[in-house]
Amino acid sequence: MPISTNKFKKTLGSFATGVTVVTTSLNNKPYGLTVNAFSSLSLEPPLVLICIDKKSESNKILKQSKIFAINILNKNQKHLSKIFSDSKNRDRFRGVKTSKKTTGSPIIVNSLAYIDCTVIKIISAGDHNIFIGNIESLNNKNLDPLIYYRGKYLG
Ligand SMILES: Cc1cc2nc3c(=O)[nH]c(=O)nc-3n(C[C@H](O)[C@H](O)[C@H](O)COP(=O)(O)O)c2cc1C
Repeated sequence: MPISTNKFKKTLGSFATGVTVVTTSLNNKPYGLTVNAFSSLSLEPPLVLICIDKKSESNKILKQSKIFAINILNKNQKHLSKIFSDSKNRDRFRGVKTSKKTTGSPIIVNSLAYIDCTVIKIISAGDHNIFIGNIESLNNKNLDPLIYYRGKYLG
């Protein structure tokens, strides 16, 4: 049975997720995009994965930089989710406080958690690439999460 885009989006959107901003750095320039296709993958070794649209600018950059940080947003960072998913905005880091941990990917200050990774494998799957990251460092804070459900932010 053919799967309609509309039904795919509605049904998959029924799975409530957190929201992350995936950042990277190439030639000292920061890049980032909003991502909710993120998953824990393996404990030993510690691995995570993100799914990135092959058509996106970020896909091109991540393939070259081979590093990324997952910044899990807290409930007061909805504006960051919007900024980092705005395809027309090419100055997404303006006014965003960041630091660096292990890989040099920007770590967004005050996020709920960060996971700093080096890319160990890229798997092509349909119109997305799966980037598997080995966790180099990570930390979390005791804050409430930003939740995305059926195309809307909860709370
Ligand atoms: C809540 C939310 C989740 C998103 N999740 C993903 C995702 O998992 N993978 C992806 O490739 N794009 C995702 N996007 C879309 C990108 O953030 C958006 O297309 C962005 O403009 C891509 O930036 P770029 O063109 O600079 O790479 C998401 C957008 C929103 C609002």
